[in-house]
Amino acid sequence: MNNILKKAYTEHNLSKSEIITLLNSDGKELYKTADKVRQEFVGDGVHLRGLIEFSNICKRECKYCGLRAPNKNADRYRLKPDEIIEYAKKGVELGYKTIVLQSGEDSFYTTEKLCNIISEIKKFDIALTLSIGEKTKEEYQAFKDAGADRYLLRIETTNKTLYQKMHPNMNYENRKQCLYNIKDSGLEVGSGSLVGLPEQTVEDLADDILFFKELDADMIGIGPFIPHPDTPLSGKLNKENFDFALKMMAIVRLLLPDINIPATTAMETINPMGRIIALNSGANVVMPNILDSEYKIKYEIYPNKICLNEHSGKCRNCIEGKIKSIGRFVSDTKGFHKRV
Ligand code: 5AD
Ligand code: FES
Repeated sequence: MNNILKKAYTEHNLSKSEIITLLNSDGKELYKTADKVRQEFVGDGVHLRGLIEFSNICKRECKYCGLRAPNKNADRYRLKPDEIIEYAKKGVELGYKTIVLQSGEDSFYTTEKLCNIISEIKKFDIALTLSIGEKTKEEYQAFKDAGADRYLLRIETTNKTLYQKMHPNMNYENRKQCLYNIKDSGLEVGSGSLVGLPEQTVEDLADDILFFKELDADMIGIGPFIPHPDTPLSGKLNKENFDFALKMMAIVRLLLPDINIPATTAMETINPMGRIIALNSGANVVMPNILDSEYKIKYEIYPNKICLNEHSGKCRNCIEGKIKSIGRFVSDTKGFHKRV
């Protein structure tokens, strides 16, 4: 182990320039160290979170995202509250201990509607995560009070200039404030970044990592940017995004050793072994989709998403097989962040 990795392993702290050195390394030693830290802090259990993408309608215009409002080619859908609850029930039957509700920023779902859905799903004795964008402090509190446990909101990038370019009519400071409001409400807070956005630098990635540390996040999801043809950022995929996303994820494991880190679907979209590689480099969570194909296909944030035609029961078994093949096991707990 080199000196930077030794320091990260013992102190869980690095300077910006040390992080940059690791990001520019070949990653081999970094992945090994992150895997060791993962084993020591969160063990060999992998938490499965059943994902329900309940609406692809979005009022935002994020330059990279296929669900952006101006994309006329997106075939929009919105599940009814009862259908969402039905899918959650199916997830519970498949053995998921956490259900994740994700959508575009769709104003149809008022706080009242959402709180009803939350309290119905919470009757199933599972943990519930929301990933539905920017809300007010009061709304986050209402979700928590209705029974929600966690909330995911990626900062996407901490480079303010780049953030403003990527997100028309949005505000970096507000997004940051949302993350602190989520935390203050008592919800576990998850964030993360997109890796490989145009003009993004390794310095930016290092700043993102330092921000996650400052936020003291409970969960961090890192994904490679995959260009969508119907967005202003259409173009060729940069395969390097995978390695940088993986290195970033591994460094997050070193600096926030006891948090939950998913092997992201976007990683597997670029690399057929992506999730296994991530699980061997610091990750301890996988988020399989539990919707039927017709909806999965339409939730096209980026193209060529995996498992689009697979039945949710098949994904559940497939991922368990993959997890066992690397000597790990599917956790039977709700998988809250336990501070060590
Ligand atoms: N490529 C990869 N990830 C993307 N996301 C949005 N668009 C893309 C894309 N083109 C990610 C964002 C968002 C999450 C739900 O999906 O980081 O937070
Ligand atoms: Fe869906 Fe393997 S996880 S088929």
